[in-house]
Amino acid sequence: MTQLHYPDLQVCVLAAGKGKRMHSNLPKVLHKVLGRAMIDYILHTVESLTPKGIAVVTGHASEKVREHVGQPANLEWVIQDKQLGTGHAVKQCEKVIRDVRDVLIVCGDTPLLSAETLSNLVEGHRKANTDVTVLSAIPSNPFGYGRIVRDGHGQVSSIVEEKDASAEQQNISEVSSGIYCVRFEVLFDLLRAIGNTNAQSEYYLPDIVPLALEAGQSVEAVAMHDANEMFGVNDRIHLSQVEDLMQKRIIEDWQRRGVTIEKPETVRIEAGVSIGLDTTIQAGCYLIGSTQIGDECKVGPNAVLVDARLDDRVNVFAFSHIHGASVGSDTLIGPYARLRPGAALDEKVHIGNFVEIKNSVVAEGSKINHLSYIGDANIGSNCNIGAGTITCNYDGANKFETNIGNNVFVGSVTQLVAPVTVGNDATIGAGSTITRDVTAGGLTLSERSKTKYLPLWERPVKVKS
Ligand code: UD1
Ligand code: MG
Repeated sequence: MTQLHYPDLQVCVLAAGKGKRMHSNLPKVLHKVLGRAMIDYILHTVESLTPKGIAVVTGHASEKVREHVGQPANLEWVIQDKQLGTGHAVKQCEKVIRDVRDVLIVCGDTPLLSAETLSNLVEGHRKANTDVTVLSAIPSNPFGYGRIVRDGHGQVSSIVEEKDASAEQQNISEVSSGIYCVRFEVLFDLLRAIGNTNAQSEYYLPDIVPLALEAGQSVEAVAMHDANEMFGVNDRIHLSQVEDLMQKRIIEDWQRRGVTIEKPETVRIEAGVSIGLDTTIQAGCYLIGSTQIGDECKVGPNAVLVDARLDDRVNVFAFSHIHGASVGSDTLIGPYARLRPGAALDEKVHIGNFVEIKNSVVAEGSKINHLSYIGDANIGSNCNIGAGTITCNYDGANKFETNIGNNVFVGSVTQLVAPVTVGNDATIGAGSTITRDVTAGGLTLSERSKTKYLPLWERPVKVKS
């Protein structure tokens, strides 16, 4: 079993680069993969190794990265003022590292990396008692990665960056993931010795490899099983490719945990979503943000749920949009319904087509089945809100509430002009405009419009000037 407790390990996360190739105002590591920033993935992964400490090197827009991450207890921020290269970045960590056996160096732009792979690297490094161990891989396309150069005995002799590689070296298929485990005792002496005479005039971390060999230290490569894990995002094409790989991983994880996902290649399920047992997600659904779905629900096709909460056995029919709303069990939504922030539906509610609900509570068993707008309202239990009912909650300047009791029947095409209260068991006739409170019990019809109907021939004729 993989050991995931390393109290004598220090982690360094390199995240200072601007990410020039992203062409963005946002630092690269804050770009999101399925709703979660890349830095969050890597921090989550290294935290699960329970290391002694985590140093995060930031530079470009460091305040944005810090603000995003906050201040976990075992995390120290290290500033790299000028991004002079990965070796220079690690060197800045010297002042925050003490009393550890090894330093694990990872990059902030590899969100697919797993804790198991890192653990294999540390275990391999320690078992062989090596000074410098690089995590290597053989990807389908080695372009852009540092190539691992081996000597005649198969011993790793150096790592050559794409831009510095000869044509022959570019043909090497074994590459560096950019991830290293290095014995603390030797690391900073090696870093002090590296120079910057290369194609990018940078202090390359990989240059510790030949320096270690010169100093009589040992260097090894530990291969990773799945080369996809080291996929480093350098531009937005990579970002979408990593998202595809992450999406496959997340979907398969939910499938293994008892969720049916139809046409999974058409579905987006973000990293912060949770889904219950025996729920079916149909084609084209987008489950975004912190959306939580209970057991035995059916969603879709083509529904969009953003930070939504569904209890058990909820049916969300095609093309419905739920954002920041909660839905009680055994409730039916849509097709073509829209629940906006603050909509809170109780159990066994029916919301039908072309109904919009915002910042409103709908109690158990109530039905709003067709073409309605309900905003800033409290609707009691077992009400029937007729087709085309509108709560007129806005007078152009202020918003007002509509309160409806239990067992109320609102006839079709009723306008409830807020603020207004409707008592329990009331019935409102179709086509009413309700401007005053409605008492409990009886039947209420609004006053008909006083505007007289004028036949065409009695209407004033406009004279052309
Ligand atoms: C790097 C490695 C390469 C490896 C590849 C794997 C070097 C010189 N190259 O190349 O061997 O195959 O990763 O993805 O190490 N960073 C800093 N400060 C700097 C420069 C970079 O913190 O001065 C950070 C970046 O924010 C990034 C990481 O280091 O998170 C890697 O930098 P990047 O520019 O992406 O290097 P690659 O060209 O991908
Ligand atoms: Mg990179």
